[in-house]
Amino acid sequence: MKMRFRIISSIAIAAVSTLLLASCGADPDSPGLEYMPDMYRSAAIEPYVDYGEIQGKQNEDLKMLLSAKVPPFGTVPYYGTDSAAVSLMLPYARLANNSFRSTHGMFDAELSSQGVDTYVLAAADVNPMELTEENMKDVFDAGKSIFNSKCAHCHGEKGDGNGPMVESGAYVGVPDYANLTNLSDGQMFYSIYYGKGMMGAHGSIINKKEIWTVVHYIRKFQDPNYGPGSVQMAAPVEGDDAPADDEANNPE
Ligand code: HEC
Repeated sequence: MKMRFRIISSIAIAAVSTLLLASCGADPDSPGLEYMPDMYRSAAIEPYVDYGEIQGKQNEDLKMLLSAKVPPFGTVPYYGTDSAAVSLMLPYARLANNSFRSTHGMFDAELSSQGVDTYVLAAADVNPMELTEENMKDVFDAGKSIFNSKCAHCHGEKGDGNGPMVESGAYVGVPDYANLTNLSDGQMFYSIYYGKGMMGAHGSIINKKEIWTVVHYIRKFQDPNYGPGSVQMAAPVEGDDAPADDEANNPE
């Protein structure tokens, strides 16, 4: 009995110390001995990479793999289960004016056939991101970071229209936001999304949430006290039968 116990315990000690030794390497980052390497390192298949052709070689068997397919037209990414956050990211309800095809290169976009200037109608849209005492700082910080990376080279970090592009003489016609206090939030959104005059469309560069965030940030240039409870810059437009954002998905 004693003998058997000794054998079992020495086998156990040997096994444990083998495991311990195997898991200790000189490199502190080393994972030690890998028993099932393919569990740690799965094949690196990236979405949207066409593995049908690798380094000039056609791979018929890889051609139709899911990784090579684009999502179907109209696919909306998953933004979680918070309905307010999700509705913020649904496709923008206002269609660009027909003229934007030639002026802003919107060849693929569905354009408005309403016969009314959809930019004028956009004045009715309210910024859906409400400012509160709690979120204010985060919204302005996020707005600043978007603005400084995507807009300030034209508009200037102070929003005065004197960005480096303008100062260098390469570009003209950028307004000082201080002169646009009567511009509604909805029209700002529209212009950022589709472009206006010499400004190109930014709808494919920053998403809807980011645009509404940056609209809040631009208001801050116009009024340093802008914050929760500030008057929403929106005006109902007569004869506006275009869907507001939240009705966007129930066209008749
Ligand atoms: C390449 C230079 C350039 C860049 C980049 C640029 N803008 Fe502009 N922006 C302009 C010009 C020029 C105008 C004046 C357009 C007009 O009224 O014809 C303008 C106008 C505007 C207006 C007023 C729109 C209106 O309806 O009158 C807003 C708001 C605005 N820009 C916001 C932004 C934001 C936000 C960004 C970054 C996401 C941005 N712009 C990036 C050049 C630029």
